[in-house]
Order: sequence, then structure tokens, then C-alpha cells
Amino acid sequence: MRICVVGAGGREHALAVALARTAEVVVTPGNAGIDASVPAPPEDLEADLYVVGPEAPLVDGLADRLRARGATVFGPGADGARLEGSKAWMKEVAAAAGVPTAAHRAFDSGEVDAALAFLCTLPGLYVVKTDGLAAGKGVLVTESLTEAEDDVRAKLSGAGFGDAGRRVVIEEGMSGPEVSLLCLCDGARAVPLPSAQDFKRADDGDAGPNTGGMGAYSPFAAVDAAEGEHLTERLVAPTLYELRRRGIDYRGVLYAGLMLTPEGPKLLEYNVRFGDPEAQVVLPRWTGDVAAVLTACASGSLRVQPTFSDAAAVAVVCASEGYPVAPRHGDVIDGMEEAAAVPGAHVFCAGVAEDERGRLVTAGGRVLAVTGLGPTVADARVTAYRAVSAITWPGRHVRTDIAAGV
Ligand code: AMP
Ligand code: GLY
Repeated sequence: MRICVVGAGGREHALAVALARTAEVVVTPGNAGIDASVPAPPEDLEADLYVVGPEAPLVDGLADRLRARGATVFGPGADGARLEGSKAWMKEVAAAAGVPTAAHRAFDSGEVDAALAFLCTLPGLYVVKTDGLAAGKGVLVTESLTEAEDDVRAKLSGAGFGDAGRRVVIEEGMSGPEVSLLCLCDGARAVPLPSAQDFKRADDGDAGPNTGGMGAYSPFAAVDAAEGEHLTERLVAPTLYELRRRGIDYRGVLYAGLMLTPEGPKLLEYNVRFGDPEAQVVLPRWTGDVAAVLTACASGSLRVQPTFSDAAAVAVVCASEGYPVAPRHGDVIDGMEEAAAVPGAHVFCAGVAEDERGRLVTAGGRVLAVTGLGPTVADARVTAYRAVSAITWPGRHVRTDIAAGV
């Protein structure tokens, strides 16, 4: 069996490693740290299964184009991918499905005054989101009304995030621990994977700007397998049902970002793909035939249950200097082999390239993620950081508190 993984990041590297246990894998375009990389459009590559990693090609209809050629594809079509492509539409679907989320309203660029007036009605924690895709960076959460107002103006004028921000969703701030619940969906059924928690802020102590994710661990103790099933029944299954009711056959991962608020679990966001770096902690724990399960899912008949090891996993992202605002490229990366040699450690490459002398250099914001496995989260954390300490480049940015105190 031959599988084509689409994407260029650490998530795709983790997918390639997990799938390669039982299948031949190519990754397009991949990156200089993924051996199976093939720089060709997915449409030009023959495969029994296509697994689309990132949200942008899904929102852009890649899964539809591949299916139109008769391919088996893991990943929703453009219709289902709107759950991530438009936060306003996601909110509408969630409301129709009876899924609890933060109170909100959506505003277009012609509605600045109304948007500012709505902000004033919120009780002290303001959340302003771009409607469209912004690589995890389009969300402002602040206690400052002035900062929220400035952000609304910047987004709606197009200055903040271009067209992705010309429509905003403004919502009430919620509080509580966050959990990533990733479910495999075959159009009708939703099967939860083990829970994970990610660390979205750039700096230690959850300070600094939001990023795509600076680290993650799995499992998240408050959401064990039974609670994962319960949350899936309460939030994800009704969403899948609502999509079906609208004629949308959703096959792929539906990733619910949840906040466990004092009033109960509420939906923060839906992503239409594996999380990054959640994939780097969930996939290494997957013990069975990943290729068979994703194929069953993509074929609309998820009858095989995924199985996972009891080992915990911690992933620590190493980013380049300046991430997420202005990441610097071209720094030479040292110590990859030493890191990979740490027992229980895996290095998943993302923003890397090869320079003219054949050296691995930084070529993106999140450069790589190092995953450690161990009997407990604390053990896995020690392994991850031991391997991280072997990898160096000038200006390397790492949070030191991923999964600390868990
Ligand atoms: P999102 O991309 O919608 O998940 O938002 C990114 C991050 O912003 C989330 O992981 C939360 O930490 C935070 N966030 C989003 N919406 C809210 C909200 N309504 N209340 C508090 N924090 C939020
Ligand atoms: N780690 C968050 C995301 O993948 O969106």
C-alpha cells in the first residue's frame, strides 16, 4: 500500500513515521528533514490513500479535487473544512448542533462601530478572532478594552490579517483548562483519540503572543478515555450529525479545542486536521495499524478501533529567533543525531532546509519538535528536554515549561 501525505511540517513527519510502519509513504512537498519527501503536486503522485495534513489545502478543496479523480482521501472536502476556514460559520453550525460555545457576534469591515459597541457589552475579557485562516495567530484575548478596540480596527481594515481579518468574530472570554480532543470521523461516526494539551503562547508561563503551538503532551489527565468518549458524544457527534444533515460527508480528523469552564466543557474552535504539535504526541502513542485505520475512515467505514500504548508523550517545539513575529531563517542546526539517539526521543522536522553545503538550516518559525515517550508525563518530559538540549542553533527559542508540573 502506498500513501501520499500532503504537507511540510512536523505533523506530516509524525504521520509519515506512523504510517510507514505498515505502508510505503511519500510526503509532498515534505521538507529537508523528512526522507520520504517528494516535491511534486499531490495530483501527480499515485497513491492508494492521500492524507492531507494542513488546513489551507483542505479549505482550498484539495480533498475534493483528489476525490473527483477517484482517490481515497483522509481529510474533509472544502464544505466540511469551512469549520476551520470560517469561525463565523463554525459558530453557526455549533449553535445548530446544540454545542456549547462562547457567546459571540460576527462583524464585517463595514460594521466597525457596531463591533466596537458589542465589545463594550462584554464583561471584561475580550476575544477578537479573524473569521478566516491565520495560522493560529489571528486570535487576541485581552482584558484591555482599548487593545481589543485597536485590534478590531486593525483586523476589519485589512491591516492586521488581510482579507482573513476583514470579518471578525468577537466573543466573550471564558476561563479554564484547555484540551485538544481529536476525533477520527468517517462521515457518520466519531472516534476520539487520546486527549492532549498544547501550549499556544510563545513564552514560559503562558506569556507572549499566540503561536501555532510551542509544545504538547498526551494524555491530559482530566480527560481520560471515558471522558473523551463522553465529550465526543456531547460535542463532536452532534456536530458531525449537523454536517450530515447539511449534506456534508466529513471524513478525516475533527479536532475540537475545548475549554473546561466552571459551567462545563465549551467549544473554543474546530480544526479540520490533526493538531500540530498534538500529532507529534498522539501519533507516537498509536500502537496499531495507523494506515488501515485512516484508510477505513477515508472509505466511510471506521469499524476498526485505534489502539494506543499507555506511555505518555511530551513534545517540545524548537522555534527560530523572532518566532512568531519575524522568524529568522538560515541558521545552521547542530546535534540532530545526538538528539535522535536519546532513548525514547523522536525528532520531527518542520521549518528546515538544506543549504548549499548540505547542512540542515532553519527555514521557518517552528523548526522542529522533539517528542519524548515515557511511563509518565514527567518521565516523557525529561526525555524530551534531554534530546532538546542536544540540538542547537543561534537564537533557538524553546519554552522550558512544557508539561511542567503535570
Ligand atoms: P482558537 O484559535 O479559537 O482556539 O483560539 C486560540 C486560543 O485563544 C485558544 O486556545 C484559547 O487559549 C484562546 N481563546 C480563544 N477563544 C477564547 C475565549 N472565548 N475565551 C478565552 N480564551 C479564548
Ligand atoms: N496546536 C494547535 C493547532 O494545531 O491548531
